[in-house]
Amino acid sequence: MTFDDLSGRVAAITGGARGLGYSIAEALAREGCAIALFDILPDVEESAARLAATYGVPTSWAHVDVTDQESVQAAFDGAAAALGTPQVLVTAAGITIWNDSVGIPAAEWRKVMSVNLDGTFFAAQSFAKGLLAAGAPGSAIFISSMSGSIVNVPQNQASYNASKAAVTQLAKSLAVEWAPSSIRVNAIAPGYFLSDMTRQFTEANPELAADWVARIPAGRMGEPADLHGLVTYLASDASSYVTAQNLVIDGGYTAI
Ligand SMILES: NC(=O)c1ccc[n+]([C@@H]2O[C@H](COP(=O)([O-])OP(=O)(O)OC[C@H]3O[C@@H](n4cnc5c(N)ncnc54)[C@H](O)[C@@H]3O)[C@@H](O)[C@H]2O)c1
Repeated sequence: MTFDDLSGRVAAITGGARGLGYSIAEALAREGCAIALFDILPDVEESAARLAATYGVPTSWAHVDVTDQESVQAAFDGAAAALGTPQVLVTAAGITIWNDSVGIPAAEWRKVMSVNLDGTFFAAQSFAKGLLAAGAPGSAIFISSMSGSIVNVPQNQASYNASKAAVTQLAKSLAVEWAPSSIRVNAIAPGYFLSDMTRQFTEANPELAADWVARIPAGRMGEPADLHGLVTYLASDASSYVTAQNLVIDGGYTAI
């Protein structure tokens, strides 16, 4: 599958230092996008260098906390100066905390909401500002989760589930608001994927992984590369009339 029209475009990816964000960055770099990685992890610099070396595309990076609106704006300004105005945005920065709801301290609740929801909004806001100033079209892809529409079991993660439902509705709201400016916004809702985030749970608790897999009609967890086709499609003009959607990619989990 190739989407030649991505060549030379600039894609900004939050949470791009590792996990699904980095894997998505690889897919877009393979299609010829210049890549700006934004992440709170110091590894973001090394990840950007690895992408450039592997795919021969220009890259930049910013060590940024997506919950800080000014820092996010500075990261976008830096990326625009280094690579050009981002026309593709992928928001993959996210965290999960498992806890029983009666015991969740306010700070923990706010942390999950802040990274997953505020962080997505601040990135989208700076992305749209850049496009409006440049008079250019763009495509934003929010990594939401199937947890925005179902409740995962057996773990308790109400804060995460609520934050992802909000991310999905945010995508729809911004899509409608920005459609007249040719800025598309869609959400992707992955099911269980193997990433650095989920490995911390499955490696410590193999029975849990088996429990999850038993509920997935496809019989396996998703590999990061399973997202590549959908993300590349949404980033490209092949999806130019697709906006305000939530696309679930879960091996069938939410069907049963
Ligand atoms: N892995 C799954 O099964 C799965 C399923 C559905 C949705 N998701 C979503 O996909 C996204 C990526 O998850 P992943 O599994 O790759 O996890 P991950 O932990 O491997 O990657 C998340 C990245 O976000 C970064 N990040 C966290 N807080 C940040 C902050 N405040 N500012 C900037 N960067 C920050 C991390 O440093 C990390 O690089 C998340 O939004 C997650 O909720 C994951």
